[in-house]
Amino acid sequence: MNRYIAVADAPDWGALLDRAEYFRKHPHADTGLGKNKTLLQLFYNSSLRTRLSTQIAGQRLGMEVITMDLTQGWALEFTDGAIMNENKAEHIREAAGVMSRYADIIGLRSFASLQDRHADYEDFVIHQFARNTQVPMLNLESAIAHPLQALADSLTIRQFHPGHRPKVVLSWAPHPRALPQAVANSFVQGMQRMDVDLVITHPQGFELNPDIVGKTPVLYDQRNALQEADFVYVKNWSSYQDYGLTAPHLTDWMLDHNKMQLTNKAYFMHCLPVRRNVIVTDEVIDSDRSIVLDQAENRIYAAQAVLAELLMDGHER
Ligand code: CP
Repeated sequence: MNRYIAVADAPDWGALLDRAEYFRKHPHADTGLGKNKTLLQLFYNSSLRTRLSTQIAGQRLGMEVITMDLTQGWALEFTDGAIMNENKAEHIREAAGVMSRYADIIGLRSFASLQDRHADYEDFVIHQFARNTQVPMLNLESAIAHPLQALADSLTIRQFHPGHRPKVVLSWAPHPRALPQAVANSFVQGMQRMDVDLVITHPQGFELNPDIVGKTPVLYDQRNALQEADFVYVKNWSSYQDYGLTAPHLTDWMLDHNKMQLTNKAYFMHCLPVRRNVIVTDEVIDSDRSIVLDQAENRIYAAQAVLAELLMDGHER
C-alpha cells in the first residue's frame, strides 16, 4: 500500500484488520520498522484523537514524528497556473515538494468547506498534496473521508463481535453545527467490506452520497432501524443534497436508553468528540454497553497497521 487516502486504498480490508488486531495484541511489536524514518503530520483543523493516536503509533514503530499546524503561517496556493500576486505566499508544488524531502510519510487533516460540494467531493486539498509529494500520503480526515477512523471502527466491531453476523446501525443524530460527511462515508465503506448487516437511518434530506451508500438499506424510521441491532453507531452529518444544511431542531433523533431497549443489547459507538445530551444521553454513553473508549484506543492500532503497511511498501514483508 503506497498511500491511505480512502478506504479503497487498502487492497485487502481483512488483512489490514489482521495487522491492526496484531498491534492491539502486541502494541510494542515491530519497534524498529520506522527507524530513521520521519512522519510529518499536518493539520488544518483541530484534533485530539487523530493527532495523538497517529503520533503514538509512529513512535511505537520507531519513527520520528513532527506535527505542524497549517493554520499558522502563510496560506498556500493550490491552483496550478495561478498568478500569485495576492495573499498566498507559497505554491503547493514547492511546499509539498520540500516536505517530501524532509519526511518519509506525510499525514494531512483538511476538513470540508461544506460550501462547495463539487470541490469537497474531489477532495481537492489532500489530492493536491498527494500529487505534489514523492512520499506516501496518509489521510488524517479529509473533506469526504476518515479512513483511519473507519479502520479503528471495523477493528472495534471485530473486538466485540457477537459470534453471529452482526447487525450494525449507523444512525444520524442532531448537532448544533454543520459537520462533514467524512466519518459516515468511510464508516459505510468499511462496513461494506465486512461481514455485517449494515443499516443506515436518518431523517429525510440527510441521505449520504448515493455512490457511497450503494445498495446498503436506508430507513427513515430510526426506531424500526434499531430493532435487534448489535452495534449502534451514532453520528451527525450535514446534508449532502442541500449541501451543508443541518437540523439541530430534530432532537427526537438523539439516542437514549428507551431506543437502546429496542436493540439486541447493542454496543454504543461514536468516533468522538461527542456532544452529550445532544447526540446521546449520559445514560447511554456512560452505560456498560458503551465502547467509545475502546474505539478511541483502537485508533492507535489502526494507525500502527497503516503506517506499517506504508513503511513496508516495496520492501520484503
Ligand atoms: N475521531 C476523531 O477523528 O477525533 P479528533 O477530531 O479528535 O481527531
